[in-house]
Amino acid sequence: MILKAELHCHIEGAAAPDLVERQAQKYGADVSGFIADGAFIWHDFTSFLAAYDAAANLFRDENDYARLAEHYLTSLAREGAIYAEFFTSPDHAERAGLSPAAYTAGLAEGMRRAKAKTGIESRMIVTGVRHFGVESVEAAARFATRCGEPLVTGFGMAGEERFGQAEDYVRAFEIAREAKLGITVHAGEFGGWESVQDALDHLKPARIGHGVRAVENAELVRRIAQEGIVLECCPGSNVALNVFDGFDNHPFPRLLAAGCKVTLSSDDPPYFATSLAREYDFARQHFGLDAKALNAITRTAIEAAFVDKKTKAALLARLPAMK
Ligand code: ADE
Ligand code: ZN
Repeated sequence: MILKAELHCHIEGAAAPDLVERQAQKYGADVSGFIADGAFIWHDFTSFLAAYDAAANLFRDENDYARLAEHYLTSLAREGAIYAEFFTSPDHAERAGLSPAAYTAGLAEGMRRAKAKTGIESRMIVTGVRHFGVESVEAAARFATRCGEPLVTGFGMAGEERFGQAEDYVRAFEIAREAKLGITVHAGEFGGWESVQDALDHLKPARIGHGVRAVENAELVRRIAQEGIVLECCPGSNVALNVFDGFDNHPFPRLLAAGCKVTLSSDDPPYFATSLAREYDFARQHFGLDAKALNAITRTAIEAAFVDKKTKAALLARLPAMK
């Protein structure tokens, strides 16, 4: 089995419909507005975000989150993952009535349980939600820097990228950078190449979540390659959300050929009928990547991981040698 690494998955978006239904039973809630026949109901990005928010609202205490992280990471390990980073959202926890500290402690407990069971190494990236506004994204950044949880190693921003300007969020990213957190930001998914350029110019991330619409501007693609910016690509998500009209039109192979550092991730797997292993399969089937090329993708991901040097070296040593 190819060893894999995940850099881009939203923990609330990793909860499968059956787990969400169990949570709904626990809290006496009705899921008929966003789950039908064992699947999430959505038809575009806005309705996807609404279903996602509704599902997230059913994880309400520390133990709910411990189970969610344990469940996600153990199934990822079964797919061959040796490392995973996932996005956390203190705003979603607060909306569900839980403090960001208890939320993060619960997730950390789930990470420890998954590691004890499977050996999978993992870290958290605290995110702000762009369309919740500048104040809440800055609060998320402050939380990330002060929470004291060593498994939090990154800061990012998700949500509706067409909301506001990248420039508005400079302070949030400065707070995170000053605390030496790894920086990633969603851009170039529903916004075009300009959104990627704005994110690079103003927020100075090491990685971009998606970033795939950069392909619309050849000069920007050259810049991404030259500066070694890593694009956390999630082709299954992009095709499900109709960012591209099928895998054959997905720019992953063009970005790779242009020398950009690209990785493969699952984003919100049960919403998009995907998984990390499926993303690797899509790349094999649709983008022509063989085992050697897939191993190189995993290596790129681990090299770009927001993890201490010693752990990174140990993870890299587990990968097959580059021939
Ligand atoms: N939050 C969860 N999934 C997301 C996505 N694909 N884009 C932006 N924000 C998200
Ligand atoms: Zn995402």
